Amino acid sequence: GFLNHEVKILVIGLDNSGKTTLINHIKPSKSSTFEVTPTVGYSVETFTKHNLSFTVMDMSGSSRYRSLWEQYYSTISAIIYVIDSTDKIRLCVARDELEELLEHEEVRGKGCPVLFFANKMDVPGAMTPLEVMKEMGLERITNKAWHITSSNALTGSGVDEGISWLADKLL
Ligand code: GTP
Ligand code: MG
Repeated sequence: GFLNHEVKILVIGLDNSGKTTLINHIKPSKSSTFEVTPTVGYSVETFTKHNLSFTVMDMSGSSRYRSLWEQYYSTISAIIYVIDSTDKIRLCVARDELEELLEHEEVRGKGCPVLFFANKMDVPGAMTPLEVMKEMGLERITNKAWHITSSNALTGSGVDEGISWLADKLL
């Protein structure tokens, strides 16, 4: 692998944003470690590739699961935040969730890079990464390296570009 230490990456975003579809392009082949750990009404997906250990979690609205994903915060070195760029109505929810994540005591002071996927770019009328950036108020993130790129999780287009940026920040 290109890293000589294991790095934990949190993949997070609203439900239906495309997290599961997107990580299918990052995931190793079926023979490698891949685990879905279901808890009551909730599942956490984990897999490792090139010493990058991915934990995929849905911020599935319901706040009763919040403590579940929050317990991962202390261990993470990077965040991948997936946004459905066709879902203009819930972009403010995505924005609020992001704010809550970045202000969490375990994340606030951390210099972890944050990669944003403006996903579903193939859908006509999808917002551009620039529009998503503005609506999400990303310019206000000043203590972390961040990057936004558009993606089509169905084809994997844009995924490698984003992951390359992240890997570069983690070296
Ligand atoms: P939950 O697990 O329910 O939180 O959702 P998720 O974030 O894992 O999203 P998922 O990968 O299940 O994708 C949700 C829906 O969007 C599915 O029907 C996908 O096929 C579709 N989808 C995901 N990414 C894209 C994309 O880039 N373009 C298009 N057109 N559809 C996408
Ligand atoms: Mg999913």
